[in-house]
Amino acid sequence: MALPTLFCLVPLILLPFTCSSSSSSSSSSSPTHALSKGSSLSTDHKHVDLVSPNGLFSAGFHQVGINAYCFSIWFTEPVTRNANPTIVWTANRDVPVKGKHSKLSLLENGNLVLQDADQTVVWSTETKSTTGSPVLQLQNNGNLVLHQMNGDPDPYLLWQSFDYPTDTLLPDQPFTRNSQLVSSRSETNFSSGFFRLYFDNDNVLSLLYNGPEITSVYWPYPYLKSWEAGRSTYNNSRIARLDSNGQFNSSDNFGFFVSDFGIRRHRLMKLDVDGNIRVYSLVDKKDRKNLEVQWQAFSSPCRIHGVCGPNSLCTYSQETGRKCACVHGYKQKNPVDWSYGCEPMFKPCQQGEEDFVELRFVEFYGYDIRYINNRTLEACKKGCLQDCNCKGFQFKYNDGIYDCYLKNLLYNGYQLGFENSMYVKLPKHLSSSFHPRFIHGSIFSCPDNLIAPIERSYEGKHRSESLKVLLWFGGAIGVLEILLIHFFLYITWKDSTTTAQSYFPIASGFKRFTYAELKKATHNFSKEIGRGGAGVVYKGELSDERIAAIKMLKEATDHHHGEAEFQAEISTIGRLNHMNLIETWGYCVEGKHRLVVYEYMENGSLAKSLLSDKLNWEKKLEIAIGTAKGLAYLHEECLEWVLHCDVKPHNILLDADYNPKVADFGLSKLFDRGSTENSSFSRIRGTRGYMAPEWVFNLPITSKVDVYSYGVVILEMITGKSPLEMQQTSGNESGRDQTLVEWVRGKIRDNNESVIKREWIEEIMDSSTIGEYEKETMKNLVKVALHCVEEDKDARPSMSQVVNMLLHPE
Ligand SMILES: *[C@@H]1O[C@H](CO)[C@@H](O)[C@H](O)[C@H]1NC(C)=O
Ligand SMILES: *[C@@H]1O[C@H](CO)[C@@H](O)[C@H](O)[C@H]1NC(C)=O
Ligand SMILES: *[C@@H]1O[C@H](CO)[C@@H](O)[C@H](O)[C@H]1NC(C)=O
Ligand SMILES: *[C@@H]1O[C@H](CO)[C@@H](O)[C@H](O)[C@H]1NC(C)=O
Repeated sequence: MALPTLFCLVPLILLPFTCSSSSSSSSSSSPTHALSKGSSLSTDHKHVDLVSPNGLFSAGFHQVGINAYCFSIWFTEPVTRNANPTIVWTANRDVPVKGKHSKLSLLENGNLVLQDADQTVVWSTETKSTTGSPVLQLQNNGNLVLHQMNGDPDPYLLWQSFDYPTDTLLPDQPFTRNSQLVSSRSETNFSSGFFRLYFDNDNVLSLLYNGPEITSVYWPYPYLKSWEAGRSTYNNSRIARLDSNGQFNSSDNFGFFVSDFGIRRHRLMKLDVDGNIRVYSLVDKKDRKNLEVQWQAFSSPCRIHGVCGPNSLCTYSQETGRKCACVHGYKQKNPVDWSYGCEPMFKPCQQGEEDFVELRFVEFYGYDIRYINNRTLEACKKGCLQDCNCKGFQFKYNDGIYDCYLKNLLYNGYQLGFENSMYVKLPKHLSSSFHPRFIHGSIFSCPDNLIAPIERSYEGKHRSESLKVLLWFGGAIGVLEILLIHFFLYITWKDSTTTAQSYFPIASGFKRFTYAELKKATHNFSKEIGRGGAGVVYKGELSDERIAAIKMLKEATDHHHGEAEFQAEISTIGRLNHMNLIETWGYCVEGKHRLVVYEYMENGSLAKSLLSDKLNWEKKLEIAIGTAKGLAYLHEECLEWVLHCDVKPHNILLDADYNPKVADFGLSKLFDRGSTENSSFSRIRGTRGYMAPEWVFNLPITSKVDVYSYGVVILEMITGKSPLEMQQTSGNESGRDQTLVEWVRGKIRDNNESVIKREWIEEIMDSSTIGEYEKETMKNLVKVALHCVEEDKDARPSMSQVVNMLLHPE
């Protein structure tokens, strides 16, 4: 039932509806509950709407453009700031009618017709009532129904809007073999767009991009077989439904629970203009209602096909979800509409005059003219240069060899975190002007992102000296790392051209190990170096002499937890690539064995170093910043969003130079899926003392749980007090255990209130830690940490805001 990715939730996204006018949905209407035969609703009386008995839904004419109206159903009460209605159904989305003399009439013969000003019928139900009288009603669930009343207690159903959804499904509205959802064209244009949800011929609920040039299925992920994606092709009943509690089931075995499952709220499921399906709940905010996202199919919006059109690259953006940019040498075709993508600024196919630019960490999905197996880069280049149709090729590392995929269209380009390069063919004068860090001004490569914030930080005005040094230092490490990666790649390519045999995957070594290999590497699992909720960690030496930490996950209790699913998820983890995340080298899945192979970290965990007082203040600050960066990347950069859910000093590892790397991410999803029947997060995770209040109060789990735990870890580093000990030993006056957070807050408050002004920072700092510290820097760190541990998750900053606050203190 789960997607092969680790999804989490986007808190609080407002529905992107804007409309040129809002007059149509004024609530000063005189409600009508039914339309009987011979009567009509007209654009001349726009404020007369059909309203459901409970008042929740209204149906009427909604303005979609200048002098353009559609007959629609919406939530009566305006949600979002701009008072625009949330449309849930439209009769004539592609043929709006004029603002005067257009009308929806229920004819004597039982046909419901929508006529434009000139009487032309633009839409009708094509129904006919034989006996009795037809009546049109809007029901409490948002279904517009046309009944034939003939005195029976059960009136005969002639037509209902639930059978013809537009882009929205309401709770208990069946989605059948005859239904489809089609997205709107854009946020302001409600006509039919390019994305479609439907049951395909194999009975699988699928999403399709049906654009002006190409058509391609993007959900379930096209590189997975249906069964690998957890779908069944056998049940041909083809029915799906979201119930009012927030559970979705489909006959192909796909299903999910929304994050506010069980809470009584009005919901809707919508195929949004960006090609993502989301379930929204109508949530009461202080003065108005809000639509909040409770589930979405894609956490990584760039995986949706067609989003940026041809010849462009989709990257993650925190503000808008995704960002499109033209590939070097191409320019945007339609300045307001990315679905047209980019067009070349050169004459294609000038043989002899062409060269390539490398887009690192970038993949373009599909449109392969040819696949060449086990080749050198030079051979791939030659193959592409000789073919006029070849626009470039994907150069991909696979199990010790490089393959190339020659492409005749550049579509679905997006950024990945792992080693995989796209080579785009361009005329020489354009390829020589390429700067690898920018595509039309936007940064496209994740590892380069690592340097960017550091570069900016020393242009700032007010900053402490020690931090400055540290930042230079960090910057230098970043540059060095990138140089090293380049160097290794160079070496490996050189290697692969000369001695393809003796090749060790250094920069991108993510592979599948056999159980025997790992047993040998660990000397029959003899050297245990750690133990946690997910399993036991052993030290081992791989056949290429690398020292590894090998984690044996607890045996899968759930027999359905198949290899394919494990592989899909572990490869998502393997793709994550950041200097502050532990590197995953590979995995093993054999029978009931599930193992993950990581790089080995010389200095063990932060918990261990804190115990033995090995860290000075400068290192601690560095660890705080590094950990924040690692978590920020996990949450919001580049790839699917991944929650850690168990941030604590034991899961922050230190390399030989005490650089922090976050470990154990993504595992919470891997090892005990079987026990979570109801929701992917129904069971409490994490460690006492570090756990956000959401777990305890059963609130939606978002990335903010990691922010909370991070804040506690920072307070622990600064005070030298473990949040666990605090809870056991220190009783305060009230007799209740005082938490570390309360203790720190109390110290600051006491000092503010006392007559003799002292520095609160000196009172809470761990006196056993050696080294100089900048008072202001440390105060800032404590303030940020306290901000992170706010009870209200919405009051906490995001991890990237934390990075920003640490690098740019006020
Ligand atoms: C909306 O999109 C359709 C289809 O692309 C187009 O024909 C129509 O002109 C657009 N309407 C507006 C108001 O832009
Ligand atoms: C989904 O399936 C479960 C168990 O098979 C069932 O209890 C539940 O009512 C179903 N929900 C819907 C909306 O069909
Ligand atoms: C097919 O799916 C429907 C709806 O989910 C379910 O009621 C039915 O039992 C399924 N049939 C089979 C043979 O599994
Ligand atoms: C790749 O090619 C080289 C030389 O062409 C060959 O020796 C090697 O066996 C090939 N490897 C695979 C896995 O096919």
